[in-house]
Amino acid sequence: MAAAASYEQAYAAWQSDPQGWWAAAAEGLEWDQRWDRVFDASIGPYGRWFVGGRLNTCFNALDRHVRDGRGEQVALIWDSAMVGRVERFTYADLLARTEKMAGALAARGVGAGDRVVIYMPMVPEAAIAMLACARIGAVHSVVFGGFAAAELAARIADAKPKVIVSASCGLEPGRVVKYKPLLDAAIGLSPHKPDRCLILQRAQARADLTPGRDEDLTEAMAAAAPHPCVPVAATDPLYILYTSGTTGRPKGVVRDNGGHAVALWNSMRMIYGLDAGDVFWTASDVGWVVGHSYIVYAPLLRGCTSVMYEGKPVGTPDAGAFWRVIADHKVKVLFTAPTAMRAIKQQDPEGARTRDYDLSSLEALYLAGERCDPPTATWAAELLGKPVVDHWWQTETGWAITAGFRQYGLFPFRPGSGGRPCPGHDLHALDDDGHVLPRGQSGNLSIRLPLPPGCAPTLWQNEEGYRTAYLSDFPGWYRTGDAGVVDEAGDVWVMGRTDDIINVAGHRLSTGSMEEVLASHPDVAECAVVGAKDELKGQAPIGLVVLKAGVSRPEADVARELVALVRERIGPVAAFKDARVVARLPKTRSGKILRATIRKLADGEVPVVPATIEDPAALEEVSAALQR
Ligand code: COA
Ligand code: AMP
Repeated sequence: MAAAASYEQAYAAWQSDPQGWWAAAAEGLEWDQRWDRVFDASIGPYGRWFVGGRLNTCFNALDRHVRDGRGEQVALIWDSAMVGRVERFTYADLLARTEKMAGALAARGVGAGDRVVIYMPMVPEAAIAMLACARIGAVHSVVFGGFAAAELAARIADAKPKVIVSASCGLEPGRVVKYKPLLDAAIGLSPHKPDRCLILQRAQARADLTPGRDEDLTEAMAAAAPHPCVPVAATDPLYILYTSGTTGRPKGVVRDNGGHAVALWNSMRMIYGLDAGDVFWTASDVGWVVGHSYIVYAPLLRGCTSVMYEGKPVGTPDAGAFWRVIADHKVKVLFTAPTAMRAIKQQDPEGARTRDYDLSSLEALYLAGERCDPPTATWAAELLGKPVVDHWWQTETGWAITAGFRQYGLFPFRPGSGGRPCPGHDLHALDDDGHVLPRGQSGNLSIRLPLPPGCAPTLWQNEEGYRTAYLSDFPGWYRTGDAGVVDEAGDVWVMGRTDDIINVAGHRLSTGSMEEVLASHPDVAECAVVGAKDELKGQAPIGLVVLKAGVSRPEADVARELVALVRERIGPVAAFKDARVVARLPKTRSGKILRATIRKLADGEVPVVPATIEDPAALEEVSAALQR
């Protein structure tokens, strides 16, 4: 692909006229009403984009492509390794189904601004439900299937949906995950109850429907009248996506309609080098931000073909699964988490399975979701003989903060680096007092306000929470929560979180919320959960617990109960499998548990023992427990 300009030119063009740059990008979409102001700094925690503009995200993702002659192009390929089936939906098909789903929601009283929770596995109806919400101006909140009932309940309680769209079951290797009992339990736990639940009945486990509340989704869609697009304000919310914060309470990250559509539409060519008609496969889950942005919205906004894969990189049926999908659907760019590559590498270190498939369509592999260890990036690059691009972002930003840019020509491969700041992001490492550090020095990676379009303008009904979480530490800056370095060349190296968020198999989790669960066990006096390096998943949580005085039950029994409790309250996705009993936890003299020190020990490093430690022997005990 010919480079439109160099990265330096593009970045400089954005820097010299940020509003002009984004206004030009916004021309790629169709607006019902143009914006009055490209950016208005006076609204919200740091300002809002495309104020006064009106558009419909679903119209831009579906209707206009059909109108412009792409109706017969495949929009979505659903490839399920779990049921051994492939279904292709043209833009015309996807539009027809979305119109019906929108009609079904509207018939149940859902209108602009109402919330709809979507709790679904990787089935086309999940994407259709998202687009249907966008179509009628409703706000969706997708909840990942690997969460337990209590997590779902917390999201229902906060978002207060009128309707929940769900399925009878999800499919994990070797087990059918029945969603309905989880959904029923969550609705029972939540003080807010939805009016209706629309349930997709899957053949692997049909669900009993609750009379008066639940309805069969397929029947509801069949009976519905197609619903047209409802234009909304660019600043109206498109969705809420809950993500782990530093407390047990998840944060409701809000995405608006206008800025989101502009940023994602623009990113498809600028970052991934893709255009209408190209096949893009993001191997993630619609429950995560990567799935929202790059399985559903961005590829459709650009008129691409998006692959939605229900399966794993290994075991469904083997380590050749990803190569099979690339060959079968002629995927041009694959985007996945490093964990997926590590899983394949572990089972097929020589990459022999690539020889069974024609991978000639593949032009690049993009990685994100967690730090990619250089050996894995190098392995993938050598195996595929294609560029491997690591790019760094977060649920809050909705698209990449740093990346490599196929439109401008990729940077030389530097495994371990997340690339350079995307135009739109003025990124620097700050010291703890908020001063910009010289290049090459490690600090708090922070973005000078305003954030670009597509980034969260606020948290759901919690503007103050947004300010406290991201803006108050360094006035004028958004604190990403990641530590890292911007080096002399401008490459960014992300080292890890500065808070208690961990990344397990590319899944963002809070150790604080796991601690809350452990502390609720009747035998536990106090506890600490830290993320330790894991060969496959990047990080894995380890819980250290001190039992209450007088508890004489076998430690192994308590540990087993704690593992079960985290699975029950947070869900299997927490991958909490390791609880160890210790006599005491190392603390400072003021009583603060030395989590950072414990984390280093768990990673097999020799920590610098803080001068404020109260009882050094406690550290030795924890060290011994971690080596058990
Ligand atoms: N619904 C229900 N349960 C789910 C689930 C879902 N959507 N997703 C995961 N789980 C369960 C798994 O079955 C597993 O359960 P188990 O403890 O009974 O085995 C548990 O949650 C942990 O899942 P995970 O950490 O993913 O481990 P795994 O062993 O099942 O799979 C990999 C390992 C590497 C194959 C898998 O993590 C993977 O494909 N990772 C890619 C990462 C990715 O796509 N990240 C998205 C962000 S970009
Ligand atoms: P999530 O909100 O689930 O996307 O998780 C965001 C967090 O994942 C970031 O704050 C980082 O800690 C981590 N992360 C995501 N992508 C990368 C990357 N490419 N390199 C390093 N860390 C990453």
